[in-house]
Amino acid sequence: MRTKIIAGNWKMNKTLEESQALITEIRGIVRDEHRGGSKVILCPPFISLASAARLLEGTEIGLGAQNCHFEDSGAFTGEISPLMIKSVGAQFVIIGHSERRQYFGETNEMTFKKAKSAVRNGLKVIFCVGETLQQREDKTFFKVVEAQLNEGLFGLDRKEFANVVVAYEPVWAIGTGLTASPEQAQEMHHYIRKVIATHYTDEIAEETSILYGGSMKPDNAAGLIAQRDIDGGLIGGAALKAREFADIIRAVG
Ligand code: 13P
Repeated sequence: MRTKIIAGNWKMNKTLEESQALITEIRGIVRDEHRGGSKVILCPPFISLASAARLLEGTEIGLGAQNCHFEDSGAFTGEISPLMIKSVGAQFVIIGHSERRQYFGETNEMTFKKAKSAVRNGLKVIFCVGETLQQREDKTFFKVVEAQLNEGLFGLDRKEFANVVVAYEPVWAIGTGLTASPEQAQEMHHYIRKVIATHYTDEIAEETSILYGGSMKPDNAAGLIAQRDIDGGLIGGAALKAREFADIIRAVG
């Protein structure tokens, strides 16, 4: 059985104080309502990670960063290393989010270096792939996602890859209110699993959790999760409201 995962990517939202309030609220709801059918992960901004780790101590809720550099330390002003993320008590890091690719020039070469470094430092990677609207329309989307995996991730060996969760996030569905239909998402998830099987093994592909991200909300989560190859969600906007986030967790089980 693959692990089902609901991860909240807070992006550049919430001050320290606001994030403490939201984490406390989510922690309470998860404690009271969560039946344990999925792993819950919160990914607040860097400045909140250390305090979030303290607030989540003794709970089953995981903690992740939204990005990392690939070196452990050095003269890289403004950057944060996997070693530093690990040191505050986080266990996960999101790598290759489309906003990083789009606004910060992140390439497949960079995502691979980051993934390699994150795993070497004992972090689990939530690795994002996805096509733009243009690529969906000109029907290159399978090729684009395959290249993101081949060039940006598959340099990891089998053992390293055991620490990877893949997130399919069609760029046209992020923050737009447009969701991929369950069938569209399933088609891509199935394809991603096939590509993983071809590069690694059938068994590894079967064990890899593949999350959907892009305007996932309480009212569309169950339909997406019901698909055979969709193992959870990477949630943006709806993760910023405790009740909405909890209702998505509930839809997953
Ligand atoms: P939204 O849920 O706001 O569309 O964001 C999805 C996302 O980018 C999660 O990483």
